[in-house]
Amino acid sequence: MTRVITYGTYDLLHYGHIRLLERAKQLGDYLIVAVTSDDFDKKRGKINVKQSLMERIEAVRNTGLADEIIVEEYEGQKIDDIKRYNIDIFTVGSDWKGKFDYLKEYCDVVYLDRTEGISSSKLRSETTTLKLGIVGNIKLAEKYITESKFVNGLEIVSICTNDIIEFDTENLQKYSYDEYDKFLSNIDAVYVVSNPNEHFNFVDEAIKNKKHVLCETPICLKKDECLLLFKQAKENGVILMESNKTAYSTAFNRLSLLVKTGLIGKIVSVDATCTSMEEYLKTNIEDMPKKQNSMCAWGSVALVPIFQLLGTNYNKIHFSTYYLDKNINFDLFTKVDFNYNNAVASIKVGKGVKSEGELIITGTKGYIYVPSPWWKTDYFEIRYESQNDNKRYFYQLDGEGIRYELVTFLKSVENEKNLSYIEQEISEAITLVIEKFNNKENLDEIFVES
Ligand code: CTP
Repeated sequence: MTRVITYGTYDLLHYGHIRLLERAKQLGDYLIVAVTSDDFDKKRGKINVKQSLMERIEAVRNTGLADEIIVEEYEGQKIDDIKRYNIDIFTVGSDWKGKFDYLKEYCDVVYLDRTEGISSSKLRSETTTLKLGIVGNIKLAEKYITESKFVNGLEIVSICTNDIIEFDTENLQKYSYDEYDKFLSNIDAVYVVSNPNEHFNFVDEAIKNKKHVLCETPICLKKDECLLLFKQAKENGVILMESNKTAYSTAFNRLSLLVKTGLIGKIVSVDATCTSMEEYLKTNIEDMPKKQNSMCAWGSVALVPIFQLLGTNYNKIHFSTYYLDKNINFDLFTKVDFNYNNAVASIKVGKGVKSEGELIITGTKGYIYVPSPWWKTDYFEIRYESQNDNKRYFYQLDGEGIRYELVTFLKSVENEKNLSYIEQEISEAITLVIEKFNNKENLDEIFVES
């Protein structure tokens, strides 16, 4: 009996897949089809597969061509499978020509001609193409333009800015801030990445024009305004989602889930630090106030693990701030301390200081350590009193989480349901902290001697 194996994602099963499976079956007497797991697809860069693993397996099963279906979960599994299932022939489409020649050591390798003119990617783009425009600081948005290319069904078509654009944006329609209305009329959704004090107006107008909004964190600078924006988004039937890319890094996400399983016991403290000095070193002192201060630039990033792990109902909050100048509301460094009923937390953020950008979650049984820069993390450790019990976790991070965030935004729009990893309650809590900071509530100033 000749045993054949073939591999694929089989998303939105199409006649290209069916033709391949038919020919694979004809190569032998018994056909095993390996369908890729969601995690494995994500690792190899297929990030917006539309159907779940079970749906894809079901579709392959319904072709009646597979004698057996297995799941492909890890790099190198093909060698294991060929040995385990006594495979005589490995086959895939000719788009993979040469890629699997290393398997010739274990069985015959056959590349079958790929069917022209059809692919899952093509079908995914055809179902919807969300036209996204970017408003604000285009330099900050540059990565989004690059990353959007990995997301089928979403296309960045225009930018609205008063900045001088220093990179190639040839294919994008350009508008200035006073053409915002016109810019909105030609898109389905907008990514707002302006100075945070302009967010409210940009988001408000977009929502009133029934455009979906992905807004860079913090959504705005006052809690009431944040509430209002979410209320209006609901009334207008559009998605409003906070852009906070750390939340979409797989490692950070898995870390939050692990903590919730009780692996480090009860959480006693969450401490996050984010600092950067690049802008401060490059900018004239008198121009610094035009830039985002430490609390705006970093505060909302550092607050995410605290609010996600401990909730938003803290009892006390206290700020310690080192200002650029007595008369200028620009913090070079701020430490925020929170008291909860059963835990404490702190963030240290700075644009004019340097510190270790780590995240530490202290528990009653052990702690989690995420090394610097934790907000772009692909790695963390669970550490215990006995070093032998320590565990290390690594999850590949592609594109700093941006492409996963864009996929989530697209899915939210398609499903008409906010699937954001940052819940509305957390967006509100972040804006409240920034509001309190701006009002200098419970704030002590630090005077650093020069
Ligand atoms: N295949 C084919 N002809 C096509 C599309 C796919 O022969 N037009 C084959 C692939 O070569 C592979 C199998 O079908 O052996 C499963 O492919 P898969 O990657 O799941 O499908 P694609 O349509 O290529 O998906 P994508 O566009 O996401 O790459």
